[in-house]
Amino acid sequence: MPRDILVPQPESSRKLSTPLHSLDMFCTWLAATPLSQTIQSVEWLIPAVQTVHILAVAMVMTSVLMIDLRLIGVGARDQTIAAVAKRFLPFIWWTLPVLLATGATLIIAEPARALENPVFYLKMGLLLAAVTITLACQIPLARNASFWELSAGRKRAARLIASISLPLWVAIIFAGRWIAYIQRT
Ligand code: HEM
Repeated sequence: MPRDILVPQPESSRKLSTPLHSLDMFCTWLAATPLSQTIQSVEWLIPAVQTVHILAVAMVMTSVLMIDLRLIGVGARDQTIAAVAKRFLPFIWWTLPVLLATGATLIIAEPARALENPVFYLKMGLLLAAVTITLACQIPLARNASFWELSAGRKRAARLIASISLPLWVAIIFAGRWIAYIQRT
């Protein structure tokens, strides 16, 4: 029987083959790149990027709130769902790349803080779900502007979409803040 099956391998040599070790190596490499070093060395840069990230969050959340309140039937009832969506959806789609760029900058500055943190992946999963549900509202509207207002069943479906969408976006904000308080894996 080969010797390495009988003798427990030291921690360091066992870790070599795990995906987590590869991620660790990637984070160490990324943190040592000139781009990461530059971001880390300019004192005001990270607070500035965080400020833009938070402003973009405010923009997305305001737009989500306006659309979802209309879907629920609480706000802007003098306007059609299509009109409210047409007005606010572009703010969501145009701001997401800003969130992506600023989020990526924060990751490049301190890769392990996010990439080795399970809450970061929770946040990305929630974001994927929130984007999917936003599209589920938008795509039928693109085909028929009064889609969500045509029957009582569709109005109920619109309310359901909004009542899933709102907590999802709030959970993304929670996860964004939570990253700072959770130990790395
Ligand atoms: C599009 C992809 C996104 C990426 C790659 C990203 C990445 C990040 C990163 C790396 C942080 C720093 C966490 C830390 O080190 O403490 C962060 C913070 C945060 N993110 Fe995002 N994010 C994205 C989208 C979003 C979205 C869509 C929202 C909410 C609508 C959001 C809300 C937040 C919040 C509230 C914080 C905490 C800000 C702070 O306390 O300074 N992020 N994000």
